[in-house]
Amino acid sequence: MNLLIMGLPGAGKGTQAAKIVEEFGLIHISTGDMFRAAMANQTEMGLLAKSYIDKGELVPDEVTNGIVKERLGQADVAEKGFLLDGYPRTIEQAHALDTTLAEVNLKLDGVINIDVDPASLVERLSGRIINKKTGETFHKVFNPPANYKEEDYYQREDDKPETVKRRLDVNIAQGQPIIDHYREAGMVHDIQGNQEISAVFADIEQVLIDLK
Ligand code: AP5
Ligand code: MG
Repeated sequence: MNLLIMGLPGAGKGTQAAKIVEEFGLIHISTGDMFRAAMANQTEMGLLAKSYIDKGELVPDEVTNGIVKERLGQADVAEKGFLLDGYPRTIEQAHALDTTLAEVNLKLDGVINIDVDPASLVERLSGRIINKKTGETFHKVFNPPANYKEEDYYQREDDKPETVKRRLDVNIAQGQPIIDHYREAGMVHDIQGNQEISAVFADIEQVLIDLK
């Protein structure tokens, strides 16, 4: 199965992606995670990405399209199927993805669209904490880890309130044409994202069982 997971910043893409790949054995491809890894390693691409991400802006399409194309061409993706998280994020990226998939002879099976009230997202992002060792994502209030110790967790640089506002504006502006593109193809499965994490997953699971 080859899938996209879409939704505004904080909608729960990463949280649900972790559960989906565990149950369905797909390869999780998150452009945000790839950029953060490159930033941590201070590669040339990482430094370039940082200059956009820190401002809440999108990394230029040619850079993003390039890393996704490279990843989708690897053998494990064809073998296991993929779950793309955070890509495409512009209509140009959606068109580039169509071309890349044709080139590597893969086809998309569905788009999971996590629909959330934007008003709930600032609170989600400001309370997000990530385990330094495992990379697992939690929330101070909505999904607290067992035995929470502040020193074991960090917060994302781009979760500062000023940056969050810009991220939301950018993603709201860019998102609609992408959803329309996939809706026309009959591929979108809307999921109500303002529910408990486990209830959101139960809805996604049902869609994926039907798709399989
Ligand atoms: P990226 O890392 O993709 O960030 P994002 O899209 O802003 O989404 P997030 O990862 O912030 O949110 P999420 O939906 O994964 O939510 P999560 O599950 O963590 O991208 C970061 C940056 O990289 C971009 O701004 C851009 O600059 C660049 N970039 C990435 N891809 C790009 C592209 N294609 N083109 C150009 N630039 C690109 O959940 C959030 C919090 O809420 C957590 O604390 C979680 O525990 C909690 N939570 C989750 N679900 C629930 C629930 N149901 N109820 C209550 N709390 C919940
Ligand atoms: Mg994420």
